[in-house]
Amino acid sequence: MQKTMDDLFESEPRDLRLADGAMVLGGFALAHEASLLVAVRDVTARAPFRHLITPGGYRMSVAMTNCGRLGWVSDRSGYRYDPIDPETRLPWPPMPEVFATLAAKAAATVGFAGFAPEACLINRYEPGAKLSLHQDKDERNYDAPIVSVSLGLPATFLFGGLARGDKQQRIKLIHGDVVVWGGPARLAYHGVLPLADGDHPLLGRQRINLTFRKAG
Ligand code: SIN
Ligand code: FE2
Repeated sequence: MQKTMDDLFESEPRDLRLADGAMVLGGFALAHEASLLVAVRDVTARAPFRHLITPGGYRMSVAMTNCGRLGWVSDRSGYRYDPIDPETRLPWPPMPEVFATLAAKAAATVGFAGFAPEACLINRYEPGAKLSLHQDKDERNYDAPIVSVSLGLPATFLFGGLARGDKQQRIKLIHGDVVVWGGPARLAYHGVLPLADGDHPLLGRQRINLTFRKAG
């Protein structure tokens, strides 16, 4: 049977090596899309999205929540991992099985076997929301990689080097893409450009990002 253009695009792997230890796994999360979305809904019903305040006093445009034993939070006193949700004063919802399994599988694919994250930060971007260039460095050690899952509207991801001023690659991340960075790339600067408006068939006018970390 003759292949259509759609078949061709579908079968084309979109994996992309960003640096030593860093890779985009195109569509890696798609097989679990339905259970991931159910799990996001469960978690956010118990630990609602909120706009955190930076130590400098700014309200972040990305809304955040967490699941797992530890959650990343920010307030006037700084950034930290906290076992208790400061809004609900309860422990964060447990990490859904599908989250942990997917994160470990993605990490292993890029060469980081045995990844067992105890923190998952859930970011919600609405049109205009952005994440400035930063390093993930609030974790106690950097042996484990970061695994980041994109759902919903596409975003432009910036991936730089170990110095803030290093040139950045701009990568379009779409629904189902997973990015892993660890080893020599663990402290790479990264960020997300302001989200363009759009309407995703499953998620509407938003992008959800799951970021898995081994925090302690
Ligand atoms: C992050 O750096 O925590 C999130 C990155 C993303 O939203 O893709
Ligand atoms: Fe980050």
